[in-house]
Amino acid sequence: MPRAASNNGTLHTLRTREMRKKTIDNFGAGCYKCHLLMLQATEKIWMNGAFVKWDDAKVHILTHSLHYGTGVFEGIRCYKSDLGSAVFRLREHVNRLFESAHICQIQIPFTREAVIEAILETIRVNKIDACYIRPLAYLGYGAMGIFPKENPVQLSIAVWPWGSYLGDEGLKNGIRVKISSFTRPHVNSTMVRSKTTANYANSLLAKREALKDGYDEAMLLDTDGYVAEGSGENVFMVRKGVIKTPPLTSILEGITRETLMQLAVDRKMRLVEERFTRDELYIADEAFFTGTAAEITPIREVDNRAIGSGKPGPVTKELQAAYFDCVYGRDNTHKDWLSFVHAG
Ligand SMILES: Cc1ncc(COP(=O)(O)O)c(C=O)c1O
Repeated sequence: MPRAASNNGTLHTLRTREMRKKTIDNFGAGCYKCHLLMLQATEKIWMNGAFVKWDDAKVHILTHSLHYGTGVFEGIRCYKSDLGSAVFRLREHVNRLFESAHICQIQIPFTREAVIEAILETIRVNKIDACYIRPLAYLGYGAMGIFPKENPVQLSIAVWPWGSYLGDEGLKNGIRVKISSFTRPHVNSTMVRSKTTANYANSLLAKREALKDGYDEAMLLDTDGYVAEGSGENVFMVRKGVIKTPPLTSILEGITRETLMQLAVDRKMRLVEERFTRDELYIADEAFFTGTAAEITPIREVDNRAIGSGKPGPVTKELQAAYFDCVYGRDNTHKDWLSFVHAG
């Protein structure tokens, strides 16, 4: 079972307390951002084919990816569904991990099937019903120049319990968003179709700025000035009965984005993949973020301008409910999106 942050004297617990204090100093007690940082340890982490204790899951300081941002990773969720614990869209996430690696010319030394099985086994070993799952492929210790020569490719899988990324309150009533002063990388810059650790330096700058300025999340524009995505989410807006989401140019090919698009099509809603500007977003009737961590989070305000009524609108609410029906196994038409942790 996951260890509570306060029930033992491990290094992890001390670090968690320290982080919490720092976050409270920065943002004030009671803010969801404090919970966001409180990583709750589980028992074991899968590293290169074997399980190690949580506190022993360490790498050498000269790990290549630590210096040059060449890791590729995934963020996946396992839900305690009505039909048993199930990982949502596991195969799609593992496929994207391998595609990210392919873009970065990283050869993961395991098959896709082996990674799928290792993820399910990590959940079972940690005896956890619902969790966030973080596979990470990275270049290990070896050469230290930018060219990684023959540094070994390593793979780890960690799982831990994680509540709503943007807070329960945000999920229900919507969040406040700031258009970032940071721009999404150009399509020929860091390859945003790959979920590469380096890309998250850009996300981190934007997120930190937004939180420091009192908002919940950042919205980044692309290099042409059109709305791209959040620091860790894709974005949708609804205006005059049409749902719009930016095309797959400077954004991550989100699996929740694709899920939402399918749910909208199922409901015969009008949806287009089309660029839009920040001022069109200001006058949208509704807007929301999608992401594995953020799930479907309504946006109630952008740059201090209310979106629609300033409350989650009907399209957002319907699609959010539809999404939760899928992940919790209540939607019979999309059961194939669930991979059950315990067979049979
Ligand atoms: C930059 C960015 N965009 C979008 C998403 C949403 O992707 P997904 O729905 O596959 O989690 C994420 C989350 O992984 C992200 O980091």
